[in-house]
Amino acid sequence: MAQIIDGKKISQDIKDELKEKVTALKDTGTEVALAVIQVGNDPASSVYVRNKKKACEYIGIRSLSYELPEETTEDALIELIEKLNKDETVNGILVQLPVPKHIDPDKIIRTISPEKDVDGFHPQNVGKLVIGEEGFVSCTPAGVIQLLKRSGIEISGKNCVVVGRSNIVGKPMALLMLRENATVTIAHSKTKNLKELCQTADILIVAIGKPQFITADYVKEGAVVIDVGIHRDENNKLCGDVRYEEVAEKASAITPVPGGVGPMTIAMLMSNCVESLDRE
Ligand code: GUN
Repeated sequence: MAQIIDGKKISQDIKDELKEKVTALKDTGTEVALAVIQVGNDPASSVYVRNKKKACEYIGIRSLSYELPEETTEDALIELIEKLNKDETVNGILVQLPVPKHIDPDKIIRTISPEKDVDGFHPQNVGKLVIGEEGFVSCTPAGVIQLLKRSGIEISGKNCVVVGRSNIVGKPMALLMLRENATVTIAHSKTKNLKELCQTADILIVAIGKPQFITADYVKEGAVVIDVGIHRDENNKLCGDVRYEEVAEKASAITPVPGGVGPMTIAMLMSNCVESLDRE
């Protein structure tokens, strides 16, 4: 049976390390602060935002919460972000996505100062990732790298297939694996012979957003399988993009859903907030 990669434990370790760092910073009179903005009240977003604020509280990061009504205009949101950009007591700014339809998310992302873009979504931070300069990295893919490293899984020289090419997960994931010296292939909805391609992977990272799509016959014996998906199955039980039970019999290591990649996203967001201070 595969080694189960314990995202709950690893994310807790990271949060505890950050808590220690933030406490030490406080002793020198430095406080870390994150502004969290939610427009409207999408229930899933509300859960994420609540968990982000809870993590801040645990670590000792001051969180400023902005819960704006659904009908907030794009101009009003931009005005708030510009005010927070200028506020020297605020280190990180996060606008929970999705925003309501009358607001252009790309415009909002570009309004956040790249120095405070703890989500790593600003084109300037994405560009830095491409050319290997230090900047904020998207939290979920950064979390996957931590899962692999802290589980003692070698990345350098390995064949890695990333299934999915979103700006938030697939693309930065591929770039991070490249930075770690893996040989990387990005697969997507137009990829031909997806199954055969996945079978070549030493490390298979799946972020396609289709429940239990990856079955055991996509997976090479002994491969490491990372499942970024999260869905509810017909019995309302959480599941990923990977058919866990059968794939776990073939893989050498695998992330469960829940308790794999999921908890890492917030841990890396917290890490980005603290890291922003080191760079100043
Ligand atoms: N919505 C879904 N994932 C994310 C994320 O990582 N950051 C933000 N800001 N919104 C999201």
